[in-house]
Amino acid sequence: MPTHPVRDDIRLLDGRWYADEPHEAWSWMRANAPVYWDDEFEVWGITRYDDILTVSKDPGRFSSFRAPRPHGDPLPMMISMDDPDHLRRRKLVNTGFTPRRVRDKTTEIDDVCDHIIDRICQQGACDFVWDIAAPLPLLLIGDMLGFPRHRYDDLLRWSDELIRGTTATDDAAREKAMLAGIEFRAFQMEVIEDRRSRDPDRDLVSTLCHAEVDGTGLDDESIVQESLLILIGGDETSRHVLTGGMLALMAHPEQRARLAADPQGRIDGAVEEMLRWVTPIKNMSRTVMEDVELGGQQLRAGQDVMLFYPSGNRDEAHFVEPFVFDIERDPNHHMAFGFGTHFCLGASLARLELNRMFRRLMERLPDIELVDDTPLPYRASNFISGPEAMPVRFTPTAPVGP
Ligand code: HEM
Repeated sequence: MPTHPVRDDIRLLDGRWYADEPHEAWSWMRANAPVYWDDEFEVWGITRYDDILTVSKDPGRFSSFRAPRPHGDPLPMMISMDDPDHLRRRKLVNTGFTPRRVRDKTTEIDDVCDHIIDRICQQGACDFVWDIAAPLPLLLIGDMLGFPRHRYDDLLRWSDELIRGTTATDDAAREKAMLAGIEFRAFQMEVIEDRRSRDPDRDLVSTLCHAEVDGTGLDDESIVQESLLILIGGDETSRHVLTGGMLALMAHPEQRARLAADPQGRIDGAVEEMLRWVTPIKNMSRTVMEDVELGGQQLRAGQDVMLFYPSGNRDEAHFVEPFVFDIERDPNHHMAFGFGTHFCLGASLARLELNRMFRRLMERLPDIELVDDTPLPYRASNFISGPEAMPVRFTPTAPVGP
């Protein structure tokens, strides 16, 4: 039995709990119950930076075989595997995501940013989430996967429904997520059939269709799941850092002015601080493989733990003044991308997207601001959360594209 104080309002699988950005609760947990047993949902919550590192570095005792969600089923995708199987899968696609290959995309990303801003710049107002933040990562990852562009609205809808369904308390959302999963699968089977019937191409789905692990090709289910992981990893994460990063700049005008004064010199630091500040992936899970003590608690084999990255990123034992937003924070060893063998495959891509879009926004819509101070609606997901809408206004400007 756990030997720590408990609070009724801490509900680790309730999506609504995350919609309030529960930093007060995470701070309390770090101080009073850093390894916290949620009796209702039967899962441990790990909140201290060092404990999250300990678990992430020890896949032998803390396995990913049911990851990324607690109480999940083992799935045929890299995030749900341990090494060496995990690395074999990851190697099939990782060349497309190396820092150098991603840097080669800079011009393409700039063009996409301009195209997105061109669509709204003359209006003087837009919804930052749906007009700016969501389209950028979707367009980039959809193109890398090789999906047909006329299905991008569907892809966004499916991945959104799947994330909205990650909550233990909303049956309707879970039902919609199930339907979205079925529709994505049907769509993906058509793409797979098409790629298998053609010579290998450079897109990721083609790569997966023609790949071999130990002399055997991947089965359909593995290709569906890996593609879905890359789609959701790509389009459901960076968007919240764009939104949350913009909000942070608006809430800290002195930081915004410092960035505007030297975007070239300060953008990298600003992006790292936005990643730490927002941390859009709220947690990943691991399964305890043998009885082990952590943070003064006895964990039993078979139990699941949730690694709370946003909490680690505000841990006062690791960061100086963690609740201060400082674009020149140094050092800034945040854990927004996780740690260890499952360290985010798309980290370089996400960093470049954020870097280029914020530079473009500062150049082209420099006075962007919230329309009013109505509280923003947040997504009720126990996995990836952020604002569902964010009305903004700005001085209209001319498009730059053809
Ligand atoms: C700001 C944006 C992003 C954040 C905060 C983020 C965060 C994370 C985190 C925390 C993990 C670790 C999972 C674990 O340890 O269990 C992870 C893994 C992963 N991410 Fe990202 N991610 C982002 C963007 C992307 C993008 C753009 C892609 C596109 C490919 C992507 C694809 C993946 C994949 C495939 C994994 C699994 C890697 C593995 O199991 O080896 N992510 N991400």
